[in-house]
Amino acid sequence: MSKRTPLIAGNWKMNKTATEGVELVKAISAAVGIDPNVNVVLCPPFTALSAVGAAIEGSHLALGAQNLHDKTNGAFTGEISASMLRDLHVTHVIIGHSERRSIFGEDDAFVNRKVHAALGATLRPILCVGELLAEREANQTMEVVRRQVEKGLEGVPAAKADHVIIAYEPVWAIGTGKTATPAMAQEVHAFIRKLLAQQFGAESAARILILYGGSMKPDNADALLAEQDIDGGLIGGASLEAKSFVELVRSASKSVAG
Ligand code: PGA
Repeated sequence: MSKRTPLIAGNWKMNKTATEGVELVKAISAAVGIDPNVNVVLCPPFTALSAVGAAIEGSHLALGAQNLHDKTNGAFTGEISASMLRDLHVTHVIIGHSERRSIFGEDDAFVNRKVHAALGATLRPILCVGELLAEREANQTMEVVRRQVEKGLEGVPAAKADHVIIAYEPVWAIGTGKTATPAMAQEVHAFIRKLLAQQFGAESAARILILYGGSMKPDNADALLAEQDIDGGLIGGASLEAKSFVELVRSASKSVAG
């Protein structure tokens, strides 16, 4: 199988003012330079997108958002549309993060509409899926992941498959310091790739990036990234400091550079 160029995406969540964000990306950009072996996306809060976007112009770093609304415009107080993100040179958008699902009640149907809204505006959706601890303990991991992948991507044509990115984030590993073992993560990633092959065909599925998220840190990244179907990371806590984030970018680069 051709090796996919890995992607490291930083999900800052509700952290960093615009001023703090600019400082952070300057440090990241200076350390990363230009590296053809890895792609890097930063997902600051909406309020920092413009400033961070300006600060990374011409660099190796790309800009992502953490959410969007599925409608193009209208009476949706507090919401942000795909075209508003495009206008700020955003290229990626996280969709269906477990915090949005659990705290803000987003269901698979809403997540699916957001995926279509993103693709319609040529934004690359990073669709997050993953089981709760209780679901893993009840042996429901694959069933939950299957539902979230199939419903999340419902109606997406094969022609758009290359734009889709999946992030497998076991909810019990997010922000907890507990990581799935490389073997546990690989098992689910391989399963997700099988689901993608059913929907889009094996060739497209082989090109789609499947990121791991959930307490990925410099000390566990090499082992996770060495797995065949783990194509990078969606990083929360460790993306808030240049040092740890840059180490993760280097791990991903090394995982393909050999
Ligand atoms: P974490 O968060 O790296 O802090 O576990 C990952 C995520 O929620 O995307």
